[in-house]
Amino acid sequence: MKVLQFITTVLLISPLYFSQIKVGDDALGTRKYEDFQMSKFCGTSCHVDFYQQWSQAMMSQAYTHHWDEIEYFKLAVPHAEKDPIVAGVKAGCNGCHTPIAFLAGDVPPPLPEKMSRANESVSCDVCHSITGFVGDVPYNFNYKIEPGNIKQGARNNGKSPEHQIVKNDFLGTGDFCGTCHNEMSPYGIWVKSTHLEWKDGPYAKEGVQCQDCHMTSAEGLTSSMGNKYPDARQHLFHGAHDPGKVRGVIELRIHPDAREFEPGEAVKFTVALFNQKTGHKFPSGSVEDRIVWMHVEAVDANGKVYHLTVDKKGFDGEQYTIASDDLAYQDMGIALNQPDFKGVKRDDIPLGDRIFRMPYFDPQGRMTIQQWNTKSLGVDYRIGPRETKLETCTFNIPVDAAPGLMKVTATLNYQKLIKSIAEFLEVPDNEEEIIKVNDHTTTITILP
Ligand code: HEC
Ligand code: HEC
Ligand code: HEC
Ligand code: HEC
Repeated sequence: MKVLQFITTVLLISPLYFSQIKVGDDALGTRKYEDFQMSKFCGTSCHVDFYQQWSQAMMSQAYTHHWDEIEYFKLAVPHAEKDPIVAGVKAGCNGCHTPIAFLAGDVPPPLPEKMSRANESVSCDVCHSITGFVGDVPYNFNYKIEPGNIKQGARNNGKSPEHQIVKNDFLGTGDFCGTCHNEMSPYGIWVKSTHLEWKDGPYAKEGVQCQDCHMTSAEGLTSSMGNKYPDARQHLFHGAHDPGKVRGVIELRIHPDAREFEPGEAVKFTVALFNQKTGHKFPSGSVEDRIVWMHVEAVDANGKVYHLTVDKKGFDGEQYTIASDDLAYQDMGIALNQPDFKGVKRDDIPLGDRIFRMPYFDPQGRMTIQQWNTKSLGVDYRIGPRETKLETCTFNIPVDAAPGLMKVTATLNYQKLIKSIAEFLEVPDNEEEIIKVNDHTTTITILP
């Protein structure tokens, strides 16, 4: 009898209960900060290693990191207050960057320097309270979140004096990550699609999840309870902010079309760029901020340096993939109260170098880094997972080039933020640091 009663109660209550869980934009203000445990609490005596790993990852700084703070408070919030089309981002940015502040309805949350609970960013209890997502495609924080004493975990056998654990396979899937790693702008454009790129690519088909590269398995203690597992997921979340993760992502091989040339002759170099490391495109995620470019230089026997520009291929939108001195990003003027803002350098790298990117355009058709103000996308000239792109540089050997060996090097560089923007907005932390992804050198002989 008791069992039957229990079953009927569950059957009666559960649809009601589930319909009350609001997701995405509708979840704003449906919870309290106190519904969530602090990461420090999880990490101080029990999950020591995971806590220390997480606190070094961007996940723990998604709200407090300077560039996030600047973009949110200087650009997004003022823009949202002026333009009704993008008004929703004032709250919405935090559905991913500090979910507990969003769920608590704290809009906008206090500045990071106020040390409020918003600073907890993507905390332990956020991920470990996510039970699933609503809809067909994970995006725009459409996770279902049920904070409380039951933590969503990786195994059945976990015991904790502090909380209950249920095994939830969802956490081990790429779809889980996709709830925050796919973003659609208010204009209906995919402005972040790391999960969709992965899903379309070879890794998802082979069953390789995001976790396999960003939360690698290793033998380890997962808590102070002596729970040591051979395959504990390390909470590394290392990506663009780990130069070691970025280095070597692409392999470069350069060769000439012959080995010996007279001065004045033309030589054609071909560079093969192979993406051996990312599970999605490179660059991915904050594509609007990042710049990846190939620089080719020749050095003759006397040490004189020549810059080789890339040959044009002639595809639509190619002008956005070859470095120019155009100005762009004029829509930053909206938030900054400078309606006539002329913009800053679009690329701020050596002219004529090939850029691997996908440009974002504002409603006026100008290039933008404001992903929330993106109404269309340009050509997608990024390097897909396991894709090889071929580039050529035709070089007219100067008549005064020194006879002897000429060394020609192709280098692939990466910047998290375009330099002109970092300087204009005074972004600290060296976001514009140039990271060398890889390089390769070949030689030709210049005949006397
Ligand atoms: C971005 C989401 C995310 C955050 C933030 C996060 N975790 Fe996890 N955690 C995961 C995923 C994913 C797994 C692995 C799930 C699986 O393999 O099924 C996991 C697994 C675990 C496990 C089980 C390990 C095992 O092998 O049994 C523990 C314990 C854990 N996390 C604790 C923490 C603590 C403590 C924090 C904060 C310091 C934290 N997590 C932050 C996503 C997260
Ligand atoms: C609740 C939202 C949320 C979930 C779920 C989530 N992430 Fe993130 N993740 C973020 C945010 C926000 C950032 C950006 C932090 C920053 O730079 O501001 C981030 C950053 C990262 C980075 C660092 C990128 C860099 O620039 O260095 C990696 C790697 C990453 N996440 C992987 C994952 C993986 C793998 C999963 C699934 C296991 C996952 N994330 C789940 C919100 C989330
Ligand atoms: C085969 C390994 C692999 C898989 C699978 C993979 N990644 Fe990555 N990821 C990388 C590498 C390597 C980098 C560093 C290069 C870069 O920044 O793109 C990276 C970078 C990132 C970045 C930073 C991108 C940028 O340019 O700012 C994010 C965010 C990220 N990954 C999230 C994810 C998510 C979410 C998934 C699953 C949907 C995933 N990754 C699957 C290897 C992988
Ligand atoms: C759907 C989830 C989501 C939403 C909504 C979102 N972001 Fe993000 N944001 C992310 C993730 C995930 C990353 C990390 C991507 C990467 O590393 O390439 C990120 C990265 C960033 C970065 C770059 C961080 C860095 O260090 O390079 C900034 C700045 C940023 N977001 C600001 C914002 C602002 C401002 C808004 C609102 C207009 C916003 N985000 C809305 C998920 C989101």
